[in-house]
Amino acid sequence: MKIAVFASGSGSNAEAIIQATRARSLQAEVALVICDKQGAKVVERAASYDIPVYEYIPKNFASKVAYEEDIVQQLKENQIDFIVLAGYMRLIGTTLLAAYEGRIVNIHPSLLPAFAGLDAIGQAFEAGVKVTGVTVHYVDEGMDTGPIIAQEAVQVEINDTRESLTKKIQAVEHKLYPETLQAIFSLHKVEGE
Ligand code: GRF
Repeated sequence: MKIAVFASGSGSNAEAIIQATRARSLQAEVALVICDKQGAKVVERAASYDIPVYEYIPKNFASKVAYEEDIVQQLKENQIDFIVLAGYMRLIGTTLLAAYEGRIVNIHPSLLPAFAGLDAIGQAFEAGVKVTGVTVHYVDEGMDTGPIIAQEAVQVEINDTRESLTKKIQAVEHKLYPETLQAIFSLHKVEGE
């Protein structure tokens, strides 16, 4: 299974996934990282594992269709089977959805459908919920919608701050995402037999 990880920022989830593939607990290869933000830390992280990065600048393209067609071409050239979004701050459009139907997943730092959208951890913290968590889901045209594949709860303790809650959620993400991908890919294998 050849995967492409799409990321716009730090890339800590991308790195956790790469490490799981190298440890063979995730039987897949991260063959490409796609990044839409110049100077994003994920680019350095991918380079340190010798993983090719395709960086693009959305505003250099005439439209979303145009940049997504370009991305699809990159994916095909690299024989990518599956797309993993990890902090990719952009909605997936119809071009990518059509090319990779049922083969795009995302991770979100809340128990969806609660706290969709930006700053989910801050939203949960402000709301004062006692339980939040992490969701891995298939991607559709909406923002953080699409069928849920896996969720894990994280308790918000009385003395938690945004920062401590963020750390707890990230630790869960870095474990849950590789595990869930492995579960999805073993299913794909069975179905393909
Ligand atoms: C993660 O919290 C993920 O759930 C959300 O964006 C964040 C990306 O973090 N979609 P990183 O770039 O993987 O460190």
